[in-house]
Amino acid sequence: MIAGKSILLVVTGGIAAYKSLELIRRLRDSGAFVRAILTKSGAEFVTPLSVSALTGEKTFVELFSLTDETEIGHIQLSRQSDLIVVAPASADFMAKMAHGRADDLASTVMLATDKDVLLAPAMNVRMWDHPATQENLATLLQRGIGIVGPNEGSMACGEFGLGRMSEPSEILAAIEDYFTPKDTPLSGLKALVTAGPTHEALDPVRYIANHSSGKQGYAIAQALRSLGADVTLVSGPTQLSPPEGINRVSVTSAREMLSACQEALPADIAICAAAVADWRVAEQSNQKIKKTSGEDTPTLSFVQNPDILATLAKQGPKRPGLVVGFAAETENVESNAKSKRKRKGCDWILANDVSPETETFGGDTNTLFLIDETGTDRWTKMTKDAAAEKLSRRIADKLKLNT
Ligand code: CTP
Repeated sequence: MIAGKSILLVVTGGIAAYKSLELIRRLRDSGAFVRAILTKSGAEFVTPLSVSALTGEKTFVELFSLTDETEIGHIQLSRQSDLIVVAPASADFMAKMAHGRADDLASTVMLATDKDVLLAPAMNVRMWDHPATQENLATLLQRGIGIVGPNEGSMACGEFGLGRMSEPSEILAAIEDYFTPKDTPLSGLKALVTAGPTHEALDPVRYIANHSSGKQGYAIAQALRSLGADVTLVSGPTQLSPPEGINRVSVTSAREMLSACQEALPADIAICAAAVADWRVAEQSNQKIKKTSGEDTPTLSFVQNPDILATLAKQGPKRPGLVVGFAAETENVESNAKSKRKRKGCDWILANDVSPETETFGGDTNTLFLIDETGTDRWTKMTKDAAAEKLSRRIADKLKLNT
């Protein structure tokens, strides 16, 4: 798949630059056409001569070389490539890219290009961890720039940690992946996923919660995204980081979750994987509830929270085309789930046994039954990621049949 592609390789300053020579060799072996730009500091680590010997092409170093500008301007350099790879990408170069600086040939090309870019960062672990680099990285990721690595390991500077450039084979795999046609049957469709627990406040310092980790909902959001859907993830409080390419809306209580879901409509697919608290206290205290003297213990009274799944399933014209719920049960799993599907008005329900011995809550695996209008499909025990993938494929198949 790499064969016949034109890669513009930017080599910035760093000891890892020597690995880029091997990357060029592998790209050429795979049939790619490679042209390289060396930054001034990149040229301190590898010479233009050795790079040219491997690419078989002229290597570009200076910005204002008049001959280069007439023969092949910096705009042309990027226009003639299918992908720009920066390996190694130094902390300084990432900062320049994030801030749109253009003071040499390489950074000017990055600012002038409309081509996709893949970075292979390489730097000292402290530089990588520094908030400045992490902010630059977040900016670049948000712009859709691809990142491969860095890896963990011992570094030329004698330290150990994240910052080693990925191996040429890993960078090559990322380039191959870029050129592999993607299977995106859900592209053009909007999906709404709820995940995690909700917290229902008793007073300003206490709340009622449950053991949901949010892992299943996050995995579903990611799996739908990888099939091309445009995903909004409405998440209760979890320890999980926002998945890439997904719009995460963070909420705390069931009522907040419902209004975030309603704001995300219309959607083609809604999957309610959140463990929403069924009740909240009837009257939330504005002040911390104090221990009174003597033996008195407070008595809490509850009111029901809105049912998000049932509300989405009964939205009238705004109802998502496919509404999927979960049924967390500790007994009579299948029959309880079947009646829950009817009661809530959803199309599919995924039933799972959440008795403590199954370790579903907080764990990495799930044993699910998918119940639809035709009956029950029992899935074997699998990881939450695998279950998310299976569900997303099933959704793609169902929606394909409907078109
Ligand atoms: N759900 C919801 N809003 C609620 C309660 C549940 O959206 N207030 C959704 C969950 O996200 C899940 C499904 O409804 O998709 C079923 O959740 P579950 O906790 O199994 O059911 P409950 O409605 O709480 O019923 P019960 O506690 O009686 O089993």
